[in-house]
Amino acid sequence: MAALATVNDPDLHKDLVSLGFIENLQISGADVSFTVMLTTPACPMKERIRRDCVDALQRIPGIGSIDLKFDARVRQDSRLKGKANFPFKNVIAVGAGKGGVGKSTVAVNLAVSLAASGAAVGLLDADIYGPNLPSMLGAEEAPQQVNNILLPVEKHGLKLMSMGFLIPPDKALVWRGPMIHSTINQLLTQVDWGDLDYLVVDLPPGTGDAQMSLAQQIPITGAVVVTTPQGVSISDTRRGIDAFVKLEVPVLGVVENMAGDIFGSGAGEAAAKEMNVNFLGRLPLNAAIAAAGERGVPYLLEEDSSAFKEIAGHVAAALSVGALGAR
Ligand SMILES: Nc1ncnc2c1ncn2[C@@H]1O[C@H](COP(=O)(O)OP(=O)(O)O)[C@@H](O)[C@H]1O
Ligand SMILES: [Mg+2]
Repeated sequence: MAALATVNDPDLHKDLVSLGFIENLQISGADVSFTVMLTTPACPMKERIRRDCVDALQRIPGIGSIDLKFDARVRQDSRLKGKANFPFKNVIAVGAGKGGVGKSTVAVNLAVSLAASGAAVGLLDADIYGPNLPSMLGAEEAPQQVNNILLPVEKHGLKLMSMGFLIPPDKALVWRGPMIHSTINQLLTQVDWGDLDYLVVDLPPGTGDAQMSLAQQIPITGAVVVTTPQGVSISDTRRGIDAFVKLEVPVLGVVENMAGDIFGSGAGEAAAKEMNVNFLGRLPLNAAIAAAGERGVPYLLEEDSSAFKEIAGHVAAALSVGALGAR
């Protein structure tokens, strides 16, 4: 224990023992085995923590074998605690200053990445103007309904619900605030989500009724703002961030999407710096990403994309740090 107490969590800057992360410590003779109980299965620092633990233990003279396992208990956003209606530990909103920048692509792959790490994940498509997650996930069959409760469509390890299942196509544009409000309420409370570690919400661009309704009805743990690296994007990013700041939603950071030779690279990162929010990562403009969306298969399930995984890791870590900081 004393040796492990010298190992710090790289994100939380506290040692693993005082954080209460070491469980099932067993010592038999010179051999030691234990579990590091993390706050998210998507922790990007696992390998570093493993190395630091092994290094610390090997400094003990005569130490035998070291058996380190990882497990995770995702912390719940304190504002969501005790809300029986909302069986979510964290609600992550994905937004942007404008459309077509890759919000839905980021939302899908973020959700898939979190689920692949072992978390229970739901994906809520609240984009009233372009609810395209069912087609991006190849899940266009209408959800079943049991006693007025909708069953989310299970696809690629995620639970999916979409505005698109509830509103007739091409009706959305004429929807008024109260209708949007009640539909979002229905998507949150009349869907059998089950217990989720993360609910990822894909929002329409900008500030509007959907954002406002969501923020009024449920505490949003944090928001991810997607932008492209084009010249205009600084003002778009600012608008995307401002939308959440106005609603008092903590901004987890900015994702720069479609970086490369055509649109350039770096403006999203510069905007994040200027706005004093985290930069979560950069995704390349890549025809395979668009093709995956067309085929209804999340890109991350076909390609082992470290860029998407890194972003998911940063998001999960930012939520964990927030949850532990708030206690
Ligand atoms: N990094 C990328 N490289 C290539 N195409 C992309 C990339 N990100 C998104 N796309 C494509 O761009 C279009 C818009 O993306 P989408 O995620 O639907 O944006 P939004 O939800 O912001 O409107 C889609 O056809 C999508 O497949
Ligand atoms: Mg979209």
